[in-house]
Amino acid sequence: MENPSSGQQTVASEVGNGSDLQVPVYSSSVELLTKLQEKWNSGKKQPSPAMYSSIFGGITLDPAMMAIPIDDHMVHRGHGVFDTAMILNGYLYELDTHLDRFLRSASKAKISPPFPRSSLRSILVQLAAVSQCRKGSLRYWLSAGPGNFLLSPAGCPTSAFYAVVIDVDYSQPKEGVKVITSSVPMKAPQFATMKNVNYLPNALSVMEAEEKGAFAAIWVDDEGYVAEGPNVNVAFISQNKELLLPAFDKILGGCTAKRLLALAPKLVEKGILKSVNTANITLEEGKSAAEMMFVGSGLPILPIITWDEKPIGDGNVGELTLALSDLLWEDMLTGPETHRVPIPYV
Ligand SMILES: Cc1ncc(COP(=O)(O)O)c(C=O)c1O
Repeated sequence: MENPSSGQQTVASEVGNGSDLQVPVYSSSVELLTKLQEKWNSGKKQPSPAMYSSIFGGITLDPAMMAIPIDDHMVHRGHGVFDTAMILNGYLYELDTHLDRFLRSASKAKISPPFPRSSLRSILVQLAAVSQCRKGSLRYWLSAGPGNFLLSPAGCPTSAFYAVVIDVDYSQPKEGVKVITSSVPMKAPQFATMKNVNYLPNALSVMEAEEKGAFAAIWVDDEGYVAEGPNVNVAFISQNKELLLPAFDKILGGCTAKRLLALAPKLVEKGILKSVNTANITLEEGKSAAEMMFVGSGLPILPIITWDEKPIGDGNVGELTLALSDLLWEDMLTGPETHRVPIPYV
């Protein structure tokens, strides 16, 4: 049987146009694994240096094996939650805060983790160590688990835990970006406040922004208050030098935003900021702020200079935005070890 996917061809030409198509059947898993490994050994950049899967109960460094079973309810029903912690200079920043939110998301999604928190944490630290990554992110999922293709997870014997490390060369952003208001409806509070795997609205809102030459789109809730970005929170500096963040009752409680709220009072003590608060911020108040920024893991602060093509403040990166960015960046690099978990060398 001729293998139609042999040779270096595009997906379209591999599939051909129908009548003479012979789909290979891999009855031997060794043969399939060899084929997958050939694909990854052909110079293609590995998506991740290491993956943990509770399906086989260990870590693999082989990209050909970094897979999730198709009957996993996270794959075919979206019944899963996830979280991400940043790896910076060999430390996991805010791992425990992210892990707490991960378990709260799991509880809201009625997923009972396969292991206690301490085991999940230990697996994540070991995975980060084995990956040899010193700068990047650690992303992990809890799923209702594999079992069947039904909607109810009642037939899934156990939940599943997956994690990957992703190499990212982070640096502190100093340039400002443009944003638009999202026309993609935001998620209902029950779903927006848990980090579940349904990020279709988020992906569509980013695509909408990119189509309009912007970096991201901002959601405004049904009462007209500013909500959040697709995978980031937002923050404002008012004309009176108050730091204001939208309240977290209808959006994801960002770990970075919460750390910012804890650290920013230092700038109040120095007389640089007047106050630090969460509030209901109308679209108009947001657009007439002196400064605006995104706040999230991996940034930690990204200045915003225009919204719907109108400048925020004078349209330049704000001084207080940069002061807050320095504050968080310093915390990420040299802050207390209660917020930075060292990754052991292996
Ligand atoms: C929808 C949404 N809002 C806000 C955030 C920012 O949260 P964090 O600071 O924990 O990364 C994220 C990212 O996790 C997100 O996906």
